[in-house]
Amino acid sequence: MTAFVHRDQARDQARDQASEQAVGRAEPRLEARAKVTGQARYADDHPLPGSAYAWPVRAAFARGRISTVDTADALAVDGVVCVIWHGNAPRLEPGDDPDLLVLQSPEVWYYGQVIALVVATTLERAQEGADLVTVRTDPMAADTVLRADHPGLHEPEIVNAGLPGRVDTGDFDAGFAAAEVRVDATYRTPAEHHNPMEPHATTAFWERGQLTVFDATQASSSVRDTLAALFELPPQLVRVHNEHVGGGFGSKGAPRPNVVLAAMAARCAGRPVHLALGRSMLFTMGGYRTPTIQRIRLGADADGRLVALAHESVTQTSRLTEYTEQCAAVSRVHYPPANLTTSHRVVALDVPPPTWMRAPGECPGSFALESAIDELAVAGSWDPVQLRIDNDTARDAEGRPFSSRHLVECLRAGADRFGWAGRDPHPGSRREGRWLLGTGVAASSFPAITWPSTATARATADGHFEVAVNAADIGTGARTVMRQIAADALGVDEPSVQIRVGDSDIGFATIAGGSMGTSSWGWAVTKACRLLRERLDREHHGQCPPEGVAVVADTTADLAARGEYARHAFGAQFCAVRVDPATGEVRLDRMLGVFAAGRIINPTTAESQLAGAMTMGVSMALLEQSVLDARTGDFVTDDLASYHVAVNADIPRIDVTFLPEADPHLNPMGSKGIGELGIVGAAAAVANAVHHATGVRIRSLPITPAALLAAMPG
Ligand code: MOS
Repeated sequence: MTAFVHRDQARDQARDQASEQAVGRAEPRLEARAKVTGQARYADDHPLPGSAYAWPVRAAFARGRISTVDTADALAVDGVVCVIWHGNAPRLEPGDDPDLLVLQSPEVWYYGQVIALVVATTLERAQEGADLVTVRTDPMAADTVLRADHPGLHEPEIVNAGLPGRVDTGDFDAGFAAAEVRVDATYRTPAEHHNPMEPHATTAFWERGQLTVFDATQASSSVRDTLAALFELPPQLVRVHNEHVGGGFGSKGAPRPNVVLAAMAARCAGRPVHLALGRSMLFTMGGYRTPTIQRIRLGADADGRLVALAHESVTQTSRLTEYTEQCAAVSRVHYPPANLTTSHRVVALDVPPPTWMRAPGECPGSFALESAIDELAVAGSWDPVQLRIDNDTARDAEGRPFSSRHLVECLRAGADRFGWAGRDPHPGSRREGRWLLGTGVAASSFPAITWPSTATARATADGHFEVAVNAADIGTGARTVMRQIAADALGVDEPSVQIRVGDSDIGFATIAGGSMGTSSWGWAVTKACRLLRERLDREHHGQCPPEGVAVVADTTADLAARGEYARHAFGAQFCAVRVDPATGEVRLDRMLGVFAAGRIINPTTAESQLAGAMTMGVSMALLEQSVLDARTGDFVTDDLASYHVAVNADIPRIDVTFLPEADPHLNPMGSKGIGELGIVGAAAAVANAVHHATGVRIRSLPITPAALLAAMPG
């Protein structure tokens, strides 16, 4: 057997073992047919009798107060049912997220904030009504631009994901001063928007004091709890469905204003209400990734061993909510030297609230770190693959041993498969016609997070099993892999297992985010299924009694009992690009990702996850950029014509390879998260390849033709 398993080999092997275990088998999504035939229903696809439609009126300035709202003309539109604004909106109970306190005050905190909501019998009438709402405002001067010297920058103790804002070890200044080879560079990434295919959307209705919503969310349990708190209801009176979700990438990780507005509108209108945001609204109400400014300083000895590393991150948040992206966290994991400083400063601006997006922290952080490592390799004339191998480590910066870490193996396998050997390190040394060719490499990692969840397993008298876990299948194949896990834990064939996800009434389960879904839900499913199997064997001689048997499992205690490890998945990204020196055009030729992410539950869906994330990394490197109008605080690139994402023509070839990895310190499946791993390091690999092709180092994403042309000699 080869050292690593390519996807084709994985498929062959999977076929050979088809009768054995379900986990590890390459399988298509259970809902594939429902999706391609249009049967799968998303949040706005639930026609209910007597439905109304809501359309928001949004603030057209970044900061200020609303003095008057005149709804008379809107209410005069035939079919308009009601217009809700802060003067008549039902009161909400304040909770953790002030952005969800919609229509509660005349204060405006960001451009695009919803200041009124029109409900009508058709969408068109709601939109017409929204156009006729007259709002008088008192705008104030707005502060909307992130700068590294902004006087409002402060350093939070805790940043996103509950991580410490600062981790320092040794003496950075002394280590840096004593280094033989140094890099000191500042990297910038722009604001970026998620752009899932399905917009944020909600269908909501009230019935006998109970609230039901169909919401485009990555976490229906948390939407349920949030709505219950805002509307002061016992949680059991709120039910949140998310059977199918058309992507999220973090933007649907926390409840967004649309779900609160829809619930409020349904209450006011006394009928079911649909609220599907328009694409442009996602650019303010759906969250985005903060722009980042990251200074990296690296010092190495004469042999290319890192002796000092500083990673200082500057990002923005909104005045309404505090969110600090953990960009420097990745520098505590990849190659933390003895002398390390990692810090985060953030400033609250008059901008929409930033949020989680596609590997928050690790993604922009790795662009900076892995670009800087490439700069160090150039400065010291070291091979960038070997330099990373030479700086491998057994512990993270906080001294925790890694539960497993196969970064070196990923780098070696990747170099082999990609054809790295014999690469001429000199920039601009390879040409093909008018094109300059280059290759680049970067390391990847993402925390292997697991959170408590519950699951239910039920045996029925006809010999079938029903397994329910409140997973959110956001296009990842969650229900498919949950069934694989359940079948193995029950010791039965997959077709005898029916899996149910996407309904908060199933019971608490954690978010489809932080790449924690499969590990968290799968643990609960495994536990429930094993308990059910034990009970059937012990109490019923392995047979199911006529009344059926059900078991509920909760993994809270199991998680608390785990040892103290640094748990991360690792990978290596290799990239080949070509650059036209006359136009500055960059084309991707091919990309290879080699990943060690524990046990791969389903090679088909896993490959799709990683190839998708790598595509987003290329997109981030070359295309994605949200442009803010500093005067208004408005993201003006608010459609898919002006906000560019990579499409098929941009991505000729992406290969994903998994390295088998057994890690006993994770969960019963031995799985690590794979959703976000593929984007980490991807943009740096592209940027490093562009440097190799041209000799030009672009430290500010995206690498546009204009930026390249401006930097290229002649
Ligand atoms: Mo992901 S950005 O944690 O949904």
